Amino acid sequence: MIEGLFIAIEGVDGAGTTTHTKLLKRGLSARGLPVHTTREPSDGPIGTMIRQMLSGRLIVPTMHGGMKAPGWSTMALLFAADRLDHLEAEIVPNLMDGVTVLTDRYDHSSIAYQSITGGGAQDTIAWVEALNKYARRPDLTIVLDVPPDIARQRRMDRSGKREIFDDDQLQERLTKFYLEIDAYFPNDTIVHIDGSGSLEETERAIMNAVREARGEPAL
Ligand code: TYD
Repeated sequence: MIEGLFIAIEGVDGAGTTTHTKLLKRGLSARGLPVHTTREPSDGPIGTMIRQMLSGRLIVPTMHGGMKAPGWSTMALLFAADRLDHLEAEIVPNLMDGVTVLTDRYDHSSIAYQSITGGGAQDTIAWVEALNKYARRPDLTIVLDVPPDIARQRRMDRSGKREIFDDDQLQERLTKFYLEIDAYFPNDTIVHIDGSGSLEETERAIMNAVREARGEPAL
């Protein structure tokens, strides 16, 4: 049995990772390929807890009686634990069955979000990298690059409550970080795609990146 391809889709909040994960699944499935889509935080037990922290449903009490979201280092540990659980319980079994796995976010998100919220110092980044040392590498990572104003507009347009990383200044720093994220993953195949154009243009560029990874000619 040939293992499935493992593909991660990454970018800031509002870059379109969720939409394009769905569109890519549709495109690959239409060609008869078995595809499984998933996301991080995952839908497993640790990922479910993380989602409650992101939305403010699960908070920690402070000394002065107020409540806050857990700190960046707690989050970094939980995201890494969720990732290894996600791999073991969901990603690897599918790949072994020959299924292509598309994940909406992976450890690039940890290096970006937890490093920046942790202050961005080199030793902080190195620690987050160490936590993710045993995370299997994707065969292909697609980073959707979108300017901060467009990503912000998309975040505002979508319904739902604000999450803890929904902060314009943080998202601007993340945009810059993602542009240079390849430096932290020297052995990965990372393709940057402009996510600011039409849905169709971006969808086509993503499909071509996947075709190239599969050794197929571009459309
Ligand atoms: P989610 O609601 O899935 O956002 P989106 O649909 O826009 O991708 O929440 C994921 C949030 O978690 C997002 O703000 C990025 C953050 N995150 C991290 O901080 N570290 C990580 O390792 C991962 C996987 C996500």
